[in-house]
Amino acid sequence: MSESLLTMTNVNKQYIMGDVVFQALTDINFSVEKGEFVSILGPSGSGKSTLMNILGCLDIASSGDYELTGSNIKAMTENQLADIRNKKIGFVFQNFQLLKKQTALDNVMLPLIYSGVSLAKRRERARTMLIEVGLEDKIMSRPNQLSGGQQQRVSIARALVTNPDIILADEPTGALDQKTGAQIMDLFQQLNKEGKTVIMITHDKKIALKASRVMHIVDGRMQKYVEGVE
Ligand SMILES: Nc1ncnc2c1ncn2[C@@H]1O[C@H](COP(=O)(O)OP(=O)(O)OP(=O)(O)O)[C@@H](O)[C@H]1O
Ligand SMILES: [Mg+2]
Repeated sequence: MSESLLTMTNVNKQYIMGDVVFQALTDINFSVEKGEFVSILGPSGSGKSTLMNILGCLDIASSGDYELTGSNIKAMTENQLADIRNKKIGFVFQNFQLLKKQTALDNVMLPLIYSGVSLAKRRERARTMLIEVGLEDKIMSRPNQLSGGQQQRVSIARALVTNPDIILADEPTGALDQKTGAQIMDLFQQLNKEGKTVIMITHDKKIALKASRVMHIVDGRMQKYVEGVE
């Protein structure tokens, strides 16, 4: 039997601004199995980040159900959600979101602060992750001493360091040139081969097609991507 890591059932999201209601997501039915590499392709404003925020427990659906590793997210308190975000999900963002004054090592160690792991072990785990993403010679560098692709590698190491169930990446190549973006995609493919579940959001078809399954989101509605249908 296949092992479903997350399932969304009839998920809707409305943004309410005064008396204007904007329907950002409509009836999303979507599930991801352990070990999958799924991309979600869609144009600007289609609802990708809205969906990502719900997948990452940064926001909750207006209606419908979201189950993540067997827990219904609707029933969670804010503290429980924070715990899930920290332990189950590794986030990668377009603009890296690294602490500018901290070294690569410090940035990668950060999510382990709440893990109860000793400082020496946290440092060792962070070092191992930086080596895994190919930055063994940049461990003590600060973000402004690194290229965009290297900064994204640091942020991927930070996403991996807690050994999360899912890596969620929102436009991870959006700030990178084509060649560097392709290298980052190679890294995601390698991590996926090693067993990591990856969900990646992008507006770039070429990037999306590197995943093993591609979903298409248009005007807040999601379906399987079919080549040639825009
Ligand atoms: N907090 C909010 N309040 C009101 N409307 C919002 C809010 N956040 C997003 N929206 C609207 O919801 C729609 C989807 O936005 P979202 O950020 O999910 O798009 P996206 O697909 O990630 O776009 P992009 O590729 O430009 O990042 C847009 O029309 C946006 O204006
Ligand atoms: Mg977005």
